Amino acid sequence: MKIRSAKGLTFDDVLLVPKRSPIASRRDVDPSTRLTDGLRLNIPILSANMDTVTEAAMAMAMAREGGLGVIHRFMTIEQQVKQVERVKRAEGFVVEAPYQIDPAASLAAAARMMARRGVGGLVVKDDGDKLLGLITKRDVMLAPDVHQRVDEVMTSVDQIVSVGPEVSADEARRILYIHRIEKLPVLTDDGELVGLITAQDLMKPKRYPRAIKDEKGRLRVGAAIGVSAQAMERADALLAAGADVLVLDIAHGHADHCIDMVRALRRAHPDAQIVAGNVASADGARDLAEAGANAIKVGIGPGSICTTRIVTGFGVPQLTAIMDVAEGLRGAGFDIPIIADGGVKTSGDMVKALAAGASSVMIGSLFAGCEEAPGAPVIRDGRKVKVVRGMASLGAAISRKASEEENGEEDESAESQAEWDKVVPEGVEAVVPYRGHVREILYQMVGGLRSGMSYGGAFTIEELQRNAEFIVITPAGVRESHPHDVRRV
Ligand code: XMP
Repeated sequence: MKIRSAKGLTFDDVLLVPKRSPIASRRDVDPSTRLTDGLRLNIPILSANMDTVTEAAMAMAMAREGGLGVIHRFMTIEQQVKQVERVKRAEGFVVEAPYQIDPAASLAAAARMMARRGVGGLVVKDDGDKLLGLITKRDVMLAPDVHQRVDEVMTSVDQIVSVGPEVSADEARRILYIHRIEKLPVLTDDGELVGLITAQDLMKPKRYPRAIKDEKGRLRVGAAIGVSAQAMERADALLAAGADVLVLDIAHGHADHCIDMVRALRRAHPDAQIVAGNVASADGARDLAEAGANAIKVGIGPGSICTTRIVTGFGVPQLTAIMDVAEGLRGAGFDIPIIADGGVKTSGDMVKALAAGASSVMIGSLFAGCEEAPGAPVIRDGRKVKVVRGMASLGAAISRKASEEENGEEDESAESQAEWDKVVPEGVEAVVPYRGHVREILYQMVGGLRSGMSYGGAFTIEELQRNAEFIVITPAGVRESHPHDVRRV
């Protein structure tokens, strides 16, 4: 048995001491950062892989603002792959597998498909990959009879302007402009359809200048996996669908099965970007780094909906956990980034996490109230709220069980039923205020970070870490830090 004499600290226990600053304007600082040792983000923020936080809509919004969304894994492999594909389809200037409809389908069916998929047009193809035509919302709206067949109303291929696979974005823009059209099919010499360029997609870079994108111009997205028997199959499918980062995320990441899984993933996918966690110690981080992780996720129990520390007695206050891991990795010669996961309630907490050695932060509850988080808002006591729940909460376990039943994956063995009867939750369910679009929250968070960097005399996050000097504060200091002795209006 050993006991550490130094106290474990978390965000509210400390403040950063202001430093002489060469920064004249918050605009001069650079909030970009390393996500892994191979990928960068334009802002150091990830949305958590929780089923009340990140599916495709949140991941798209995060990547458009320069951060990253990590799609949770509490769904079938096929469902998670679809989520990744939705993000990948959202913005590349060439949509590689445009939604298609049968020539014999009715206009009503086309309208339904466009509404369901959130697109303004569909390609019409024959049984092979030959393009027959294009049908758009406008065609459907103006047609006199919704029971007409699609091929009676579509613009047929002989009237369509198309381009070859090598077309550049500038060339595509020029062609769309000259012909005053909105959609441009990409065809091989044999007339095989290999993509679709839309005017809307070409305009998006202007709307989201900080978006993070892959080499094909598609938004980047992360996807979570676990260590179950089918985890490797899930990883293969997610990478094939275009996931940029795999996040191997289990509650206790410093476990043999997690280390073995990182090793197996590294062997199977030498070039994949793998984040592994969660850990809260230098040893844990080093073992995962040695196994081949490209970034380490840190946090045992700091999350707003976590009860791990109460239920198990284990955990390390988050600021100390970040500092221990940063020092441990550095000491062992690993130059890989840390993602601080959980407990970030304000932009100030994020600045402290980064200054302590994290390269980015992962956020759950703060984003769960956003429009882009899964689930609809409800009214509670006259206020609009959304639900958030720990992934180890009873509610999440019940939903998982129900979805396994629905998908025919249920384990009906006596052992499994007995296990199920003895679920010990390590998380809670709660409601959070509805917070509108995540973009607004990110604006405030990044504004706070920029200001924090100027107090720290730092143009970059690395400089913030080098300059950081923390001071431990007392409960009186905490009180003084918040608005006090006034009545809030
Ligand atoms: P915040 O504070 O941003 O934290 O809401 C999000 C992180 O909390 C973790 N998480 C859990 N931890 N029991 C836990 O002990 C749970 O049920 C649970 N669910 C999520 C996770 O790391 C997440 O990113």
